[in-house]
Amino acid sequence: MTTKDKKKAHLLGFIQHGVNSHATGMWRHPKDKVGWSFSTPEYWQHMARTMERGLFDAMFIADELAPYNTHENSSDAIVRWAVQCPTHEPSTIVPIITTATKHLGVGLTLSTAFEHPYSMCRRLSSLDHLSAGRIAWNIVSSYSKSEWDAYGHTMTDRSGRYERLEEYMGVCYQLWDSWEPGALEDQGGPSRGQVLQVRRTPLLRALAAGTSGSVAGGLFRTRPGLRGKTCGSDFCRSSEHRPDAAICNRSD
Ligand SMILES: Cc1cc2nc3c(=O)[nH]c(=O)nc-3n(C[C@H](O)[C@H](O)[C@H](O)COP(=O)(O)O)c2cc1C
Repeated sequence: MTTKDKKKAHLLGFIQHGVNSHATGMWRHPKDKVGWSFSTPEYWQHMARTMERGLFDAMFIADELAPYNTHENSSDAIVRWAVQCPTHEPSTIVPIITTATKHLGVGLTLSTAFEHPYSMCRRLSSLDHLSAGRIAWNIVSSYSKSEWDAYGHTMTDRSGRYERLEEYMGVCYQLWDSWEPGALEDQGGPSRGQVLQVRRTPLLRALAAGTSGSVAGGLFRTRPGLRGKTCGSDFCRSSEHRPDAAICNRSD
């Protein structure tokens, strides 16, 4: 086998902002460091640096919005045995991870089910800037009934979830494209007084109110956006807007 033929492996470290992800009970291992608390910055700095030193490409932050309630229609067992529970909000640890490292990427799971696309894009773009482009969005649509219960919504069927996802991503892409490249222009030095000029593309047409809600105008942030870095575990099945990368299980 020549060097050219060699395949390159990419490594993602799977975690959740909580006691454990799928490796339930691993916190009991004597070498597990969750004992010094998953809810401290030091824990995530240590985790991030360890992954970077271990040549991981990225840390993948999985998430669910509420404890599962599939077992006996209740979340009691999940809470009692700490199965992916408790889980804190995932985007809050991203700046901690990216400031502790130089090149580790961060895959961030956020659901399109309950958040308005405008605030979603604003948050993601801010994180994208702060990390110098190291984040990617794992787009999911909330498949667990407990998540819909937590937000006080009736769960839609699967096709309804994917229809909303489709429309939602169309809005997100328009928002990210709403500023011209190089839109923020510094036209003067400190001695002449600072003049900042901002150009936006012509205002987005007001999108018809759909399940994502209506959106008028452009996004309140500068480029770069997440264009080129969306990846979808759910979104990969969406037909019109394709993610830039897909993480799928075998049946996908
Ligand atoms: C590798 C991988 C990781 C995923 N991570 C999450 C996650 O963190 N949170 C989530 O809500 N869904 C996640 N999903 C998506 C759900 O698994 C998916 O919606 C669920 O399997 C239900 O399938 P359905 O949407 O086809 O009904 C992930 C999927 C894959 C393949």
